[in-house]
Amino acid sequence: MQFSRRVFCGRLTPDDVGREVFLAGWVDAFRDHGGLLFVHLRDRSGLVQIVFSPEVAAADVCERAGGLRAEYCVVVEGKVAKRLAGTENPHIETGLIEVMVTGLSVLAPSDALPFAISEKAMVAGAPSAGAGGVAEDLRLQYRYLDIRRPSVRENLVARHRVFQCVREFLDGRGFVEVETPMLTMSTPEGARDYLVPSRVHPEKFYALPQSPQLFKQLLMIGGMERYFQLARCFRDEDLRPNRQPEFTQLDVEASFIDEEFLYELIEELTVRMFDVGGITLPRPFPRMTHAEALATTGSDRPDLRFDLRLVDVTPVFSQTRYSIFRQVLQRGGRIMGLNVKGQSGRLSKNVLQNEYAKDIAPSFGAKGMTWMRVQDGRFESNIVQFFARRELDALRRAFDAADGDVLIMIADPSPAVVTSALGQLRLHLAARLGLIHPRRFCPVWITEFPLFEPTEDGGVTSSHHPFTAPDRVDFDPANVDDLLALRSRAYDLVVNGEELGGGSIRINDRGVQGRIFAALGLTEEETRERFGFFLRALDFGAPPHGGLALGMDRTVSMILQTPSIREVIAFPKNRSAACPLTGAPAGVRREQLAELGLLNLGGPHAPPGTPGTKDRLDRLSWVSRIGIAAGERPAMEAILAQAEELASVATRNAGDAPPIRTVVPVANRTRPGTEQKRSALAQTGQLLGSAPVVKGQYYQVANILE
Ligand code: AMO
Repeated sequence: MQFSRRVFCGRLTPDDVGREVFLAGWVDAFRDHGGLLFVHLRDRSGLVQIVFSPEVAAADVCERAGGLRAEYCVVVEGKVAKRLAGTENPHIETGLIEVMVTGLSVLAPSDALPFAISEKAMVAGAPSAGAGGVAEDLRLQYRYLDIRRPSVRENLVARHRVFQCVREFLDGRGFVEVETPMLTMSTPEGARDYLVPSRVHPEKFYALPQSPQLFKQLLMIGGMERYFQLARCFRDEDLRPNRQPEFTQLDVEASFIDEEFLYELIEELTVRMFDVGGITLPRPFPRMTHAEALATTGSDRPDLRFDLRLVDVTPVFSQTRYSIFRQVLQRGGRIMGLNVKGQSGRLSKNVLQNEYAKDIAPSFGAKGMTWMRVQDGRFESNIVQFFARRELDALRRAFDAADGDVLIMIADPSPAVVTSALGQLRLHLAARLGLIHPRRFCPVWITEFPLFEPTEDGGVTSSHHPFTAPDRVDFDPANVDDLLALRSRAYDLVVNGEELGGGSIRINDRGVQGRIFAALGLTEEETRERFGFFLRALDFGAPPHGGLALGMDRTVSMILQTPSIREVIAFPKNRSAACPLTGAPAGVRREQLAELGLLNLGGPHAPPGTPGTKDRLDRLSWVSRIGIAAGERPAMEAILAQAEELASVATRNAGDAPPIRTVVPVANRTRPGTEQKRSALAQTGQLLGSAPVVKGQYYQVANILE
């Protein structure tokens, strides 16, 4: 077969009329016209109609053509002809021509398809089958068929174009692409690690990187100065539509730079990437501090495609008689609101009271919602009579309210509840009222984040990661209030309410980095164990440096405006972090576990490498599925020690008494009228003997039994 003669279906034009061609591809669709057979032949370039006519093709060719079915893989030979007037198909690029077939070979037949692949009708105007409405798991199970659909393949091609644009641009700016390890130590980014056991080092684990953060900083210490990588990252975290357990970052780092360098670099790059999708982004990107974003949009990733802004009206009600507001203010709370301009015609009393106040606002965490419509210069609401004239006048000024406007207010003792609920209401209202222009793109830099967030046990945790530089270094790592007042030199790139990327200027001073770890509650020993290699590197003339990572799946998905990031990933995991195609994650054979030293990990008492009560507590917490906070540990350790003492006394006193299998009396109940049955395995204690995973002395069983 002469594949070297092959031409692409989608590239044929009327200029090729009369040309002998050799085509290869798949049967996209076919139509039998009693003797004449029309087929859409598809390859990666597009479609062309091929025609089997007894006047042109030999009888055996026409006979074999009669056996063609969807997705048969074939090669054909034939001559390009102009279509008859009136039979053109303007919906395919080659719709003015067709190929009169003289030769056909079926390279591989296809089974009946689990869903339709063809996306184009053969007859102009007729509906095409398409794969709309096919369950996503089915699409993912047969992803190789899904990828045959031009729209899916085009997404992957566009992703490639964006990646090429990134490489070309950064190369031009002197950035070098360097690969960093996949089998590594934990890189803290706030998620759980995926662990990989080592056969060579039994009972020891690598972690897959949550990001290349530490390695890119080591590259800066290594003098690379400008690095980038299209890096695969792994995070075991709760899934959301814009999250995958395995995803791709454009990771960038540079030395001897400041924030302005990165803003300029990433803005120019983002403009170019969006340009690949025909989207023009306005530059420079606006900037907003974290505090400003929260105060005006109720979100640290504000959607700026529409105007609605939060207004703080707390001062308006400082003397109010309205008891709900008064009580909130007495408890140090806040009252904020939104003016939904000119929408009173679409937000009736009924919608505001029965949908928003009763259901929607409470579902966003608010205890209630106050609304007012402005009509004929007056406020109209179920509670307007409780407010003094001067309050209403002040309200009008604060909201710049005019006829046709709708004011929505939330009051709560917790300012965070107020901003969060209003932020979500803002998005809900914009979507409902169609305020979001579908082709508008509004990038914004969010800056001056708090360096730390408070934790439930009274400590702090990093808002980004612990390597982010604080705005000042004279902090006391033991003083939580001081720590919570620190801002970071971090920045997030947000577009249309989606966080596309984030980064920071890093700490390059060993002492400051050590104090940050101390502030996070890590002991010197823990710091040395987890980050000793990195702190040591900071001892050797670490240059000032900073960088950023862009989530490429999110970026490409936004450029292509796909409904989920799964649409721009070749083989994504589904909503439950599983792969319907391969069946991953899957159980493993006991021999594999044994080979890795995992069957009796840690022996009867403690996991390896971490001896003592601490580990027995971790084990207890794991087995009981109860988290033990740092502050509870001393008490739990004392309880555990007492329990162990009691157990040893009980063992001494038990003498030769047989061991018991359960610690609580067991009643075996069956439905009335049915015979009592007891599994023989239960009698011999072997019930869980075939459980696939054993941890220490415990069997790990399916959730339903846990
Ligand atoms: P961060 O954790 O903010 O920063 O991640 C950077 C960007 O990666 C994307 N992203 C994800 N995309 C898909 N699925 C996920 N589970 C997922 N998690 C994150 C987001 C996010 O903005 N090392 C730092 C960067 C730095 O400081 O330079 C980091 O990883 O778009």
